[in-house]
Amino acid sequence: MKIFIDSADIKEIREVAGWGILDGVTTNPSLVCKTGRPFKECVQDILAAVNGPVSVEAVSTDSSGMIKEGEDWAKLDPDKVTVKIPMTVEGLKAVCGLTERSIKTNVTLVFSMNQALLASRAGATFISPFVGRLDDISQDGMDLIHDIVGMIDDYGFDTEVISASIRHPLHVIESIRAGCHIATIPYDILLKMTKHPLTDAGIKKFYEDYQKIPRT
Ligand code: E4P
Repeated sequence: MKIFIDSADIKEIREVAGWGILDGVTTNPSLVCKTGRPFKECVQDILAAVNGPVSVEAVSTDSSGMIKEGEDWAKLDPDKVTVKIPMTVEGLKAVCGLTERSIKTNVTLVFSMNQALLASRAGATFISPFVGRLDDISQDGMDLIHDIVGMIDDYGFDTEVISASIRHPLHVIESIRAGCHIATIPYDILLKMTKHPLTDAGIKKFYEDYQKIPRT
């Protein structure tokens, strides 16, 4: 499973890129807002820091506006820029238009199999089911990931599934079990994924024993 970071914080992104495990980045207007920085400046820094797709959200409500935004963002880096399109009828039209222009898309705010089917048929490069937000309303988000990954496999669609709105390390493990293509993971959860108490205990014991080895 590929690993994206769900962040617009350039320090976090640069640090995780330095771990050698980062395949891409997803942002959204709320994440950019948290940085306090201008949108374009933020996106330019992320594009420079990462070798892989960088999702940037279109905020227009009509398809022609979304396509125009997508074309403008793609000028910054046609290989990396992926236009995040909300799952609406206008969004589906925009996905078709951007696909015709060879611009990558990530259909976001996907909460059902039907939405996933429509987005895949429209030609989305990626679709992002939001696991945590479904859990929040007492619907099992991981069930949706299992169902969508199964559908993509059964029908041989090219669309890749991004497990999004991840809230804890178990969501990542379940995404792997579901055969999801990608998980987009917040920085704090990526850090938690590196930890295990037995690793810490093992390092401590090896260090203590190393100190007891006679020096010649
Ligand atoms: C994905 O692309 C979204 O940016 C993100 O995963 C949303 O997560 P949230 O529900 O924690 O805001």
